[in-house]
Amino acid sequence: MEKIIVQGGQTLRGTLRVQGSKNAALPILAACVLVNGVCEIRNCPDLSDVRAAVRILRHLGCAVERGEDSLRVDARTVFRAAIPHALMREMRSSIVFLGSVLSRTGRAALCTPGGCEIGARPIDLHMSSLRALGARIDETNGALCCTARGGLRGATIRLRFPSVGATENILLAAAAANGTTTLYGAAREPEIGDLIRFLNACGARIRDLGAGTLKIEGVPCLHGCTHRVIPDRIAAVTYMAAAAVTGGDVTLTDIVPAHLACMTNVFEQAGCRIEEADDRLHLRAPERLRAVRDIRTAPYPGFPTDAQAAIMAALATADGVSTIEETIFENRFHHVCALRRMGADITVEGCTALLRGVERLHGAAVSAVDLRAGAAMVVAGLGAQGETVIDQIQHIDRGYEKIEACLQTLGARIERSADSGSTKPEQQFPLRFLPLRYG
Ligand code: UD1
Repeated sequence: MEKIIVQGGQTLRGTLRVQGSKNAALPILAACVLVNGVCEIRNCPDLSDVRAAVRILRHLGCAVERGEDSLRVDARTVFRAAIPHALMREMRSSIVFLGSVLSRTGRAALCTPGGCEIGARPIDLHMSSLRALGARIDETNGALCCTARGGLRGATIRLRFPSVGATENILLAAAAANGTTTLYGAAREPEIGDLIRFLNACGARIRDLGAGTLKIEGVPCLHGCTHRVIPDRIAAVTYMAAAAVTGGDVTLTDIVPAHLACMTNVFEQAGCRIEEADDRLHLRAPERLRAVRDIRTAPYPGFPTDAQAAIMAALATADGVSTIEETIFENRFHHVCALRRMGADITVEGCTALLRGVERLHGAAVSAVDLRAGAAMVVAGLGAQGETVIDQIQHIDRGYEKIEACLQTLGARIERSADSGSTKPEQQFPLRFLPLRYG
């Protein structure tokens, strides 16, 4: 199994172009199924999750070709409405194919993604919304059999929580439905805005009325378009955290500073100087970060749950006591164990982590237990003394395009290795397991 090996303590300097957004690209690829034509998706990152979406598209009958930074999807030949279990489980967010397959073919058969490392991840909001749009859904042992005889029809839908995935499924199902759908309580993440821009470029009639209200006038059919995926704000914040933890001086290009506002604010509170211009951001970190109190994850425009692990890795060595509350997923503190293994002083009470900043972390052998926890291990390893060996890096590859090459351009000493690395870090450093209290 491949591992990532980080030699910590190197100050990051230089300029890095940020990849296209995974979470924008995936629903856009699912949306291609709605289109009776050819779409070119530019700035589409080459990630294992994107490759899993391509396998689903091909299974459904689409012709998909990879260009240098783009995917060309021809969905004129869609002929299947069932997605096998093996393809569904390759990528949790494959549930977003439900709305588009159902709309395009009048039926869809797939299995529920089920819970994962970070929480139970129910799909009740997806189901109730699609039912409101006229879908009939039978669920047996996790297998979903959906039909929409006579097509989907517009409806008024109110989400009790602004679920990103449910909002995407509603957009996909309603874009070509009969009549108008009004959605209240929609998610407002930038990736939703990108999906709307893509659908409208294909001929959909979707208006964002503000405050989480979307009006979707169904159109009879969608045509192909060329679309450029927005930059990945979570990859950007991961590289900001990497720069910050090493006292670095880094410029990120191809970003949208407004999408990062809430996160930029946290880095400024930690003592970083940030300058923004057009599509770039310059971060200069102090020698040691200051602690930040009261970070709380929330739906956009709040602090993203996906950035929580990376910011925790950066603040583990900040001067003072930081607190981070996780409000979106019930089980998203897996990285705490690994950070403590590296010498961090973190206690968890219920959904709040209390970080007493230590002077320095030390390298250790750790696992990337999920995508964002894995990125946090990389950030922690860059700031630590000695060698950090990270395994299970297939999780990192789901969301970061060539993470080690990106960090190498900033001067990091990081590499990917097929073997177990040259040393056994757990023998170099004493392990310090502290009691972890979950409420
Ligand atoms: C998306 C992102 C993920 C991010 C998350 C929150 C993608 C591919 N994934 O995931 O990276 O962490 O948004 O910003 O874009 N919920 C329900 N019922 C539902 C749906 C969701 O109770 O039917 C709950 C979930 O359990 C969770 C919360 O709502 O507690 C947020 O989930 P949601 O916004 O749907 O996240 P995803 O779309 O799965």
